[in-house]
Amino acid sequence: MAVGIFDSGLGGLTVWDAVHQRLPDLPVVYLADSAHAPYGVRTSDDIYQLTCKAVERLFDAGCNLAVLACNTASAAALRRMQESWVPPDKRVLGVFVPLIEALTERQWGDNSPPREVAVRHVALFATPATVASRAFQRELAFRAIGVDVEAQSCGGVVDAIEDGDMILAEALVRSHVDALQRKMPTPDAAILGCTHYPLMQDSFQAALGDEVKVFSQASLVADSLADYLDRHPDMLGTGQAAFLTTGDPRRVSDRATQFLRRQITFQAA
Ligand code: DGL
Repeated sequence: MAVGIFDSGLGGLTVWDAVHQRLPDLPVVYLADSAHAPYGVRTSDDIYQLTCKAVERLFDAGCNLAVLACNTASAAALRRMQESWVPPDKRVLGVFVPLIEALTERQWGDNSPPREVAVRHVALFATPATVASRAFQRELAFRAIGVDVEAQSCGGVVDAIEDGDMILAEALVRSHVDALQRKMPTPDAAILGCTHYPLMQDSFQAALGDEVKVFSQASLVADSLADYLDRHPDMLGTGQAAFLTTGDPRRVSDRATQFLRRQITFQAA
């Protein structure tokens, strides 16, 4: 019995960690497509093909439910997968909706018309592919009116994190926040729309200032998954917990252990 969590690389571990805290007895098969990261600079077609292949691997590992702990895959591939690829006895969920529901202060499954919400000026930090998809703005428009979103595509941050170069990652975060503030000087809220970015949350908060509320996804997705599994216990598959990577297991294990401050051992996918 296990659920699958997928990311292009290490960022989804922020979601894995929150899921592990929320549901400590839930076995999880985590798959990092490290050989093909970053996804954020790829075309939608490419992201779709790679994500289907990765999710197929999670199904083969005995998962009935796969969570795309990757905004880029959720934005560029999820809808197409759900419409034409996911087998009827399996489910694939993304990470966008729980975040937008938190931002717009909605309960799960509240389908009432869009309304005014507390935030007015929202800064979205995400990968180039997520920004280009406009998926965040589309989902937000279903739920809220009068919210001005300024999106900043944060080239280079995922590569720096995957390479373990946190000094470069921090410098890039500062320059992307600067670029955003030139377009929107005083956002009330900021969304970390990439699961790698919570690893740099302190740098985002320091560059934005304390008055900006920074939303990140990990705990929201964990709550949403717990709620989903309560309603769909049949979606627990037959697999066993594991960390799989398409990259070099030793290198990925070292980075993961450094980020989560506990021993994490990846195996070849
Ligand atoms: N963690 C992925 C996301 O949330 C990173 C994407 C990438 O590989 O560029 O978008």
